Amino acid sequence: MRFASAATFAGLLTVVSAHFQLQYPAPRGPFVEDQELTFCDGYANAVSNRTQFPISGGFFSLNSEHPQWTLGAIISTVQNPNNFANFTDSSGNEQTAIPFFQTSGEGSFCAPLDISDITGVTLKAGMNVTVQWIFDGGDGELFQCADLTLADIPPPNITCTNATNAAVTPLSSAPAFTTGSSTGSSTSSAPSASNTNGAAISSTAFGVSGIFGVVGVILALI
Ligand SMILES: *[C@@H]1O[C@H](CO)[C@@H](O)[C@H](O)[C@H]1NC(C)=O
Ligand SMILES: *[C@@H]1O[C@H](CO)[C@@H](O)[C@H](O)[C@H]1NC(C)=O
Ligand SMILES: *[C@@H]1O[C@H](CO)[C@@H](O)[C@H](O)[C@H]1NC(C)=O
Ligand SMILES: *[C@@H]1O[C@H](CO)[C@@H](O)[C@H](O)[C@H]1NC(C)=O
Ligand SMILES: *[C@@H]1O[C@H](CO)[C@@H](O)[C@H](O)[C@H]1NC(C)=O
Repeated sequence: MRFASAATFAGLLTVVSAHFQLQYPAPRGPFVEDQELTFCDGYANAVSNRTQFPISGGFFSLNSEHPQWTLGAIISTVQNPNNFANFTDSSGNEQTAIPFFQTSGEGSFCAPLDISDITGVTLKAGMNVTVQWIFDGGDGELFQCADLTLADIPPPNITCTNATNAAVTPLSSAPAFTTGSSTGSSTSSAPSASNTNGAAISSTAFGVSGIFGVVGVILALI
C-alpha cells in the first residue's frame, strides 16, 4: 500500500531529518537546516534586498530531498511579516499563493507562481510582498520565505526543470499550521510556535557535504 511506504519513509526521515531548499526566488538567507520547521526557516524579518518578481508569468523552483511531499504557499502584503498572522486576511483566513498539492520525486521542481492568478488579495506592480512556501515530506511542515517586489517585468531567463514528471494532485484542504503558530495553541506542527518572533540566526547553512551526507544515509537505508 502506498500509505505503508509513505509511513516507512516518514519513520526514516524523522531520524535523519529532511529538507527542501527554495532556489528561486531567493529565500531570506542561506538555508538553515535546524530552523526549517519554524516560520520562514528561522528568518524573522524581511530582507531589504528584495527580488523583483514578475506580476504575471512567474515561477518558482526548489530542491526536494523527499520522495513524496506536499507543497503550498501563502502570501503577505505586510512590509515586514514576522508571524503567520501577517499571512492572513482580516477574517483570519490564509492568503493562498499556491494551492496545496501532493506530488513525488526528489530533486528540482519548478512550477508556475503567477501572481495575477492569486485571488482574494489585491496585488499590483510596485507592491512588496512575502511568499512563504510550506513543504511537508512526512515529518512536519518546513517553511521558507522570499521577500519580493512585484514588477511589470518578464520572468527571468534561468534554467528551471523538473527532476521527475510525477503527477500533481491538488489537496482538498490546506494543512493546519497557522492558527496554532500565531496564537500559541499547540498543533502537531507546534515547533513553529516558539519561533514566530524569530530567533536570531547567526550561523550559515549546513555545508553541502552535510546535506549530501543525509542523502547518503537515506539511500543507504533504502
Ligand atoms: C540578500 O543579500 C544577502 C547578503 O548578501 C544574501 O545572502 C541574500 O541571498 C540576498 N537575498 C536576496 C533575496 O537576494
Ligand atoms: C519595499 O521595500 C523596500 C525595501 O525594504 C523599501 O525600501 C520600499 O520603500 C518598499 N516599498 C514600498 C512600496 O513599501
Ligand atoms: C502583523 O502581525 C502582528 C501580530 O499579529 C500584528 O500586530 C500586526 O498588526 C500585523 N501587521 C500588519 C501590518 O497587519
Ligand atoms: C513541473 O511540474 C509542474 C507540476 O506538474 C508543472 O506545473 C510545471 O510546469 C513543470 N515544470 C516544467 C519546467 O516543466
Ligand atoms: C536565455 O538563456 C540562454 C542560455 O543562457 C540563452 O541561450 C538564451 O538566448 C536566453 N534567452 C533570452 C530570451 O535571453
